[in-house]
Amino acid sequence: MKIKLIDPQKIILIKEKFLVAPYFSGKKIKIKNKEIAKEVDKFSDIYPSFKEGEIRLVFSEKNKIIFLNIGEKEKWSQRKFLLFLRNITRFLKENRANQGVILLENIIPQKTNLENLANQISENIFLADYEFVRYKEPPKEGWFKIDSIEFAFPEPQRFQRYLKEGKIIGKAVNFARDLANIPGGEMTPEILAREAKKAVLKNPNLKIEIFNKRRLEKLSMGGILGVARGSAEEPVLIILKYFGKPRNRKIDLAMVGKGVTFDSGGLQVKPSEAMADMHLDMSGGAAVLGAILAIAELKLSLNIIALIPAAENMPSGQSYRPGDLLKTYSGKTIEVKSTDAEGRIIMADALSFAVKNYKPKMVIDVATLTGAAAVALGQRATALFTNLQKLEKVFRQIGEDSGDYVWPLPCWEEYEEENKGTFGDIANIGKSGRLGGAITGALFLKSFVQNLPWVHLDIAPTTVSIEGQGLTKGATGTGVRYLIRLAQEFQKIKANFL
Ligand code: BES
Ligand code: ZN
Ligand code: ZN
Repeated sequence: MKIKLIDPQKIILIKEKFLVAPYFSGKKIKIKNKEIAKEVDKFSDIYPSFKEGEIRLVFSEKNKIIFLNIGEKEKWSQRKFLLFLRNITRFLKENRANQGVILLENIIPQKTNLENLANQISENIFLADYEFVRYKEPPKEGWFKIDSIEFAFPEPQRFQRYLKEGKIIGKAVNFARDLANIPGGEMTPEILAREAKKAVLKNPNLKIEIFNKRRLEKLSMGGILGVARGSAEEPVLIILKYFGKPRNRKIDLAMVGKGVTFDSGGLQVKPSEAMADMHLDMSGGAAVLGAILAIAELKLSLNIIALIPAAENMPSGQSYRPGDLLKTYSGKTIEVKSTDAEGRIIMADALSFAVKNYKPKMVIDVATLTGAAAVALGQRATALFTNLQKLEKVFRQIGEDSGDYVWPLPCWEEYEEENKGTFGDIANIGKSGRLGGAITGALFLKSFVQNLPWVHLDIAPTTVSIEGQGLTKGATGTGVRYLIRLAQEFQKIKANFL
């Protein structure tokens, strides 16, 4: 799909091209381009009666025009603008529109940074265009693809290049969605590692190393090994490095993503409905992989280490058991109180490995860690935790600007108490059980980062799309955009706060 910004005066309408005309409730559509205005005006007696949110396709002998009442002008926002773009993209696709032109000049939200907006326009078009069809037989004529979308936008030349960035980011999110959507049996730790290797080949600034089971044994990563024991699939630790500041070998940022390729719950097996979607339990790992690929392609100036501990959590005669005491890479033992709280166990090894060997300036981890995060926040916000209280606002803003919306939950020392083990150093579930489960999960991870600046995103709430988001069913690729944005902002954050 080609996308481009064009000068509103230079729109050329041809028969195949769908014209998208959004307008505020009760307002007349104002268009400077006379030819286009004439076409739209032909419908000026009917479009004012369309309801808010309604998308209407009308035909004249020459053109196809899509009218969309986008609601009250006073309530218009950047979030709504992006959602509008997604909905329109899907509508174009459903109506087999090969080409489209969207009149944006009158609906650009106020006080927006146009560079960022141009970036987000293309990003969101690609997110909305994505479908997961690799397991379906294509129709005879092949899957429908939109050829091109143009956006009538002010000063198109100036902002064109931000579309390119947005495309790289959007594609990275879709790559993560693909990895996540692939069923558990076909996205095992080994296959995930292979996919990572394949993707890295395309970028000379990226290095990859895969630690196999034997290597993990040598390193005493008892957490990853423990969780994986019940599965026929061997675990791996995927390590990627990106040097965007090659003269300096110091690591700025460590990104760690949970890669549980299927979470059955282990011996404490999940009840049947709760196991649906557990092939998506490697979404954090997929996000980290998608993000580092985009960061390398965007050539951002920072050094990153990315770690994806990958394992499958299965019940069998070999499985780790409740009551087991697992010796982690850090030397600390984990008392297994639930075999279903496996994510934090594998993350513990990866986090302490990153901290001990690379001493990054900051650590960010992304994990589908707890159902409790979704109980707390619903499905519209990722739970944000950090030990950098003063940066909480900055981290929230990154969520807003990236489109991966986050909301903070407390990370107070008092909660630490709840994770104390009886026979081991730390227990893998809090004493209050389900109460505050996202928080005790977060504090568990915190105890493996040795007080380095740290951010934890519990993406369990936002892993799958919900109705009204303008996304196809399944994985959302949550976290990818957040990580990229954080990398983009990193030098500023480092200079001011670290
Ligand atoms: N992968 C799950 C968390 C999850 C649940 C993600 C629902 C997405 C949707 C995680 O490994 C898990 O099972 N967590 C337990 C923790 C509990 C045993 C303390 C949970 O949330 O129930
Ligand atoms: Zn689990
Ligand atoms: Zn899990």
